[in-house]
Amino acid sequence: PHGRVQNICCIGAGYVGGPTCAVIANKNPHLKVTVVDLSQPRIDAWNSPHLPIYEPGLQEIVELARDGSADRKPNLFFSTDVDAAIAEADLVFVSVNTPTKVSGTGAGFASELSYVESAIRKIAEVATTDKIVVEKSTVPVRTADSMREILSAIGKPGVRFEVLSNPEFLAEGTAIPDLLTPDRILIGSLVNESGLSAASALANVYAGWVPRDRIITMNLWSSELAKLAANALLAQRISSINALSAICEATGADVEEIAFACGTDTRIGSKMLRASVGFGGSCFKKDILSLTYISETLHLPEVAAYWRSVVDINEYQKDRFTNRIITCLYNSLTNKKIAVLGFSYKKDTGDTRESAAISIIKNLAGERAKISIYDPKVEERQIWQDLQGYGNVSSVAGAGSVKDFVTVENNVYDACADAHAIIILTEWDEFSNKAIAKPTAAQANKPTNGHASTNPRMDWSRVADTMKRPMFVFDGRNVVDARALEELGFRVECIGKPG
Ligand code: NAD
Ligand code: UGA
Repeated sequence: PHGRVQNICCIGAGYVGGPTCAVIANKNPHLKVTVVDLSQPRIDAWNSPHLPIYEPGLQEIVELARDGSADRKPNLFFSTDVDAAIAEADLVFVSVNTPTKVSGTGAGFASELSYVESAIRKIAEVATTDKIVVEKSTVPVRTADSMREILSAIGKPGVRFEVLSNPEFLAEGTAIPDLLTPDRILIGSLVNESGLSAASALANVYAGWVPRDRIITMNLWSSELAKLAANALLAQRISSINALSAICEATGADVEEIAFACGTDTRIGSKMLRASVGFGGSCFKKDILSLTYISETLHLPEVAAYWRSVVDINEYQKDRFTNRIITCLYNSLTNKKIAVLGFSYKKDTGDTRESAAISIIKNLAGERAKISIYDPKVEERQIWQDLQGYGNVSSVAGAGSVKDFVTVENNVYDACADAHAIIILTEWDEFSNKAIAKPTAAQANKPTNGHASTNPRMDWSRVADTMKRPMFVFDGRNVVDARALEELGFRVECIGKPG
């Protein structure tokens, strides 16, 4: 019943909707792809030379599909006219945000589904022709059930809807290479004629560039749960290595050697085993809390507690790192200048959602330190927004505002001048002093960005000349060669390594 797709609408022009549709449009010049959003500034930015998100390689891909070229017509559009785009589409992606609920039942754990529901209601109201509705947002297992009910209750008579699950696995900072060469595309459908035919129509869109054997189809509920499961398993690896990092610091073992030794076992594998100051980002914590909530509502408290511990270890890791800083700085941070290098939750993105930097800076401000922040991509107004009204920052006795404690600099040298300590919270290449490894043949051939980290590496000896003695480096990402910095006179504390 659901034939070939010619016209796609994507509701939600965020980190997922924008890059995903840019790649779909780029690889399927015969399709018309329209990305819609309620936010006018966001859509204006997508239509401008300054895209609303930073993602290596994104600009070129958007420009080609959006602006066209001598041999191709534009086929990627960004608009706030949600109704028109839904009306003309035969396939609609729902790629809106699904944050953790802040109030009501399940507050602090369950996913907020009101954005998804309002998008679904809008589709049902507007549609006068059959639509394939695709869950791109990460949602609790069985959400498609509610979607189907709403669509059939509101939809016009004779208009048929088929709901698919098609979770997204891209990671920020590598979104474009992840989308161009995905490990797999997952499509979940009802296992009946109409469901399978819709799944096959969506599979044909991806087949524009993804090999068929990487396009996996399965039942709806497995597909929905597989997304939460994948994020839970990835985050669980990070919490596992971070828990081991605490043992390393206490025993003289080195967590990088542990990760290497374990990662060479092909059953374990080497990825997602970098010890850190704690994972951030908009999804890992939210999705694990969602899984915890689902487990609780299914009366599986032991399962809920298991997944919750992944988040608990992450909070512990952030606090442990702050405590180490305080102890090393002689338990007194009052009025000491501390340089924080990196504010985004990982390199190659300007995204700060759930960044470890936010809670660590909050804790340091509570100690009355003077914090100076530098990040190559995060916008200053974003930093103020993230720190505004944040716990200890504003509750420190006598504190006027966060700006009494924090400054934002636009280069590493101003941030570090006169500082007692440097704290590295994001693994931006420019903070590293390690020898640059030659790219492997596979990496060299990967269709990745031309300008990941654009800034040159910082000059650590120049920084050392301007700092207060004794001068400390707390490396929350293990990006520095500690011995080389020690030769410059730094005292270096790394995650998972003895002090
Ligand atoms: P985002 O906040 O960047 O974008 C969501 C957009 O949806 C916003 O611009 C918002 O204005 C818009 N929106 C909300 N309700 C709308 C409505 N009713 N009509 C039109 N627009 C509406 O979120 P994101 O990071 O792109 O994440 C979207 C979903 O994808 C989430 O469920 C997330 O869990 C999942 N996901 C995110 C990532 C990631 O790396 N960010 C990766 C995989 C999956
Ligand atoms: C993650 C998943 O990797 C994606 O597959 C998924 O689609 C996405 O969540 C999502 O659902 O939103 P993302 O959060 O963008 O992607 O980035 P990751 O590379 O997974 O990193 C997440 C956090 O973990 C970052 O703070 C990163 O610094 C940290 N991390 C990552 C570590 O501390 N150690 C590692 O070994 C890897």
